[in-house]
Amino acid sequence: MLASPAIRPLAGADRDAALAVINTAARWYREFLPPAEYHDPEMTPAAWEAEARRLTWYGAFAGEALVGVMGLEYVRDVALLRHAYVLPEHQRHGVGARLREHLEAQIPAGIRIIVGTYAANYKAGRALEKAGYRRAPDSEVILRAYYAIPEDRLRSSVVYEKRRPAQAASDLRK
Ligand SMILES: CC(C)(COP(=O)(O)OP(=O)(O)OC[C@H]1O[C@@H](n2cnc3c(N)ncnc32)[C@H](O)[C@@H]1OP(=O)(O)O)[C@@H](O)C(=O)NCCC(=O)NCCS
Repeated sequence: MLASPAIRPLAGADRDAALAVINTAARWYREFLPPAEYHDPEMTPAAWEAEARRLTWYGAFAGEALVGVMGLEYVRDVALLRHAYVLPEHQRHGVGARLREHLEAQIPAGIRIIVGTYAANYKAGRALEKAGYRRAPDSEVILRAYYAIPEDRLRSSVVYEKRRPAQAASDLRK
C-alpha cells in the first residue's frame, strides 16, 4: 500500500474504473440497509456521467490503479463532498483522508462543507468526526435543500458539516 496515493481529477476514460471502486466499496451498505433500500450496483454508468456534469470526480491512485474516489460539488452557498469510496483492501490506510484533504483544499476559505451519509455508516461517521466535522442538528432540512436523493435514502441519512477556516492557522502565526 502506498503511504500517499496520487490524487487527480477523473475524466470520462476513468468511468469504468471509478464505477468498479464505487460498486465494490458500496457493498458494505448490505451490512446495515434493509433489503428494500439496498441496491447493487450502487451506481450505473449513466448515473456516473450525470454526476460528472454537476460535480468534479477525483481519484486516488496507488501506482496505476484507482483505489478511491470522491466528488466535489458546489450547490449555491455550500460545497458538498460526495460519493466517497475506497476499495475494501485499501481501506484504513489513509486514502479516504487524503482524498478529503485534497478536495477541502480546493474549497474557498469560509465556505461551509457538507457531507451526507447513512446514519448507520459508522466508518464514514468516525472518519468525518476525526476530521473535525460535526453532526448537523437539522440534517433533514439540509438534505432537502442541497441534495436530490431518493426519499428512502434521505430518511436514513444524516449530515456532517464543517466550515473551512476563513484564515489558515499557518497564516495566523505569521
Ligand atoms: C468511508 C471510507 C471512504 C473511508 O476511507 P478509508 O480510506 O478507509 O479512510 P481512512 O483510512 O482515511 O480512515 C480515516 C478514519 O476513518 C475512520 N474509519 C475508517 N474505517 C473505519 C472502520 N472500518 N471502522 C471504524 N472507523 C473507521 C477511522 O477514524 C479512521 O482513522 P484511523 O484509521 O486513524 O482510526 C471507506 O471506509 C469506504 O469506502 N467505505 C465504504 C463506502 C462508504 O461508506 N462511503 C461513505 C459514503 S459518505
